[in-house]
Amino acid sequence: RDPGWTEWADVIVVGSGIAGLTAALRLKDQVERVAVVTKDVLQAGSTQWAQGGIAAALGEGDTPAQHEVDTLVAGAGACDLEAVRVLVGEGAEAVRELIEWGAEFDKDPAGNLSLTREGGHRRDRIAHADGDATGAEIQRALMEAVRRAPEILVFEHAMVVDLLTAADGGVAGLTIHVMGEGDADGVGIVRTRAVVLASGGLGQVFSQTTNPAVATADGMAIALRAGATLRDLEFVQFHPTVMYLGEDSRGQQPLISEAVRGEGAFLVDWDGARLMDGVHELRDLAPRDIVSKAIMKRMLETGHPNMWLDARHLGASVIEPAEISDRETSASRTFWGRRFPNILATLLSHGIDPSQDLIPVAPACHYASGGVRTDLWGRSDVPGLYATGEVACSGVHGANRLASNSLLEGLVFSRRIAEVLPGELRQLEDPAPGRGTGRALVPGAALKQLQETMTTKVGVLRNATGLAEAVEELERLGSVPATEIDPAAWEATNLLTVSLALTKSALLREETRGSHWREDFAERDDPRFAGHFDLTLRDGEP
Ligand code: SIN
Repeated sequence: RDPGWTEWADVIVVGSGIAGLTAALRLKDQVERVAVVTKDVLQAGSTQWAQGGIAAALGEGDTPAQHEVDTLVAGAGACDLEAVRVLVGEGAEAVRELIEWGAEFDKDPAGNLSLTREGGHRRDRIAHADGDATGAEIQRALMEAVRRAPEILVFEHAMVVDLLTAADGGVAGLTIHVMGEGDADGVGIVRTRAVVLASGGLGQVFSQTTNPAVATADGMAIALRAGATLRDLEFVQFHPTVMYLGEDSRGQQPLISEAVRGEGAFLVDWDGARLMDGVHELRDLAPRDIVSKAIMKRMLETGHPNMWLDARHLGASVIEPAEISDRETSASRTFWGRRFPNILATLLSHGIDPSQDLIPVAPACHYASGGVRTDLWGRSDVPGLYATGEVACSGVHGANRLASNSLLEGLVFSRRIAEVLPGELRQLEDPAPGRGTGRALVPGAALKQLQETMTTKVGVLRNATGLAEAVEELERLGSVPATEIDPAAWEATNLLTVSLALTKSALLREETRGSHWREDFAERDDPRFAGHFDLTLRDGEP
């Protein structure tokens, strides 16, 4: 089919969270025409939902070396040391630049950044904004910086369908559908010399996730179809404390930030016994995979669908009495209102007062540690294709991302991409015919079954039988082609491609490591550690 329209740009950034907007801001003065495309509005991605904060060695006495150790320990032996060193070494400077661009982080009374702690960190090094709205503040600041730079072209509601490659296999352009503008015939081509994928994660692979509805693995699927390598997809992090809304609740679920445990909340079972006692020396602030596993284990032992977070004792002890205003009669509410206003609002909207009630929690999908394999400068295997943020696998997260390292990764690696990309710009090439195609599209309606299969068979706890069944079920879903070509079909197809890749990798990794938990290979097994799992397409299948 002929494209409906054709445009061009030197660089197209796909995605508009911290990674995408940082890349655009840093590239804008170095290349003539930078465009940001996003399939919803600019702020719709995962960045705005980040609560806890952004980690960096910013506090007195903290050092990149200490941040490095915590990152490596959380990553369970699967991080790339050089990548981690880049992250922690350049992290503090990158956060300072974010502040220069206008992001306002919370400060202590002396005017220093107020730093908190989350799971796996042995120091207070998480900068936060507006209490628990760090991502929203960063997103605001970056969007305003982009608006002050009219030379950055912004296209909202523009879904990238595929990446087009030239005869040499490198980037030539993107096919893009402007949402709401006609059916799939409304697909056009933007020719380009480089693409920066910053399109976020794959949360919608599962029925319950902290990710917004737009997290449909598009960037990973597009990159795979264009010839890039996906790495370590099986390492999907399940956040331990996602509010449990009942077994029928689907889609994006409310996150109860780890920072709540950082301030002293703890997990209890249905009998009120503390869950993390004797499990790890850091107790409720152990690395995330360990806490999720402890919760799941107790849920399986007792048959309960959730455990509880006890934060009733917080409150007055954390705030100076002088700060309690007349309006706020409850000291606990005052603490919550100041430190976690958004979490408080969510809890109250579900009838839970955290100063009085236990909070029902269960693990849910939170973050893809794997993704498009990149080098230390964000380069993928496809010439001219770069990846940054959650869509990428730069090697910093290993088998389990350390809390609040994700915003930092987007920031640091987008800065790095902007350092090398201008010197590596390709010529504007013609797309080679027949490239950029993959499997037949599946209908959008396949999504529910896909999510159920992934949640029950490829979720927190995995085994060979369930994983093999999941591959069969996914292949069966893939054998029923879509009759209508629309964004829902593109998204479902991307999710199916990535689900198959993830499940096949999970089946192959026969040990338990970090966030990959095999009940049939229950222990971490260093002699058996197979290193990274790289995956490409063969005959259209991962
Ligand atoms: C949280 O606030 O618990 C989430 C932070 C993160 O995922 O890094």
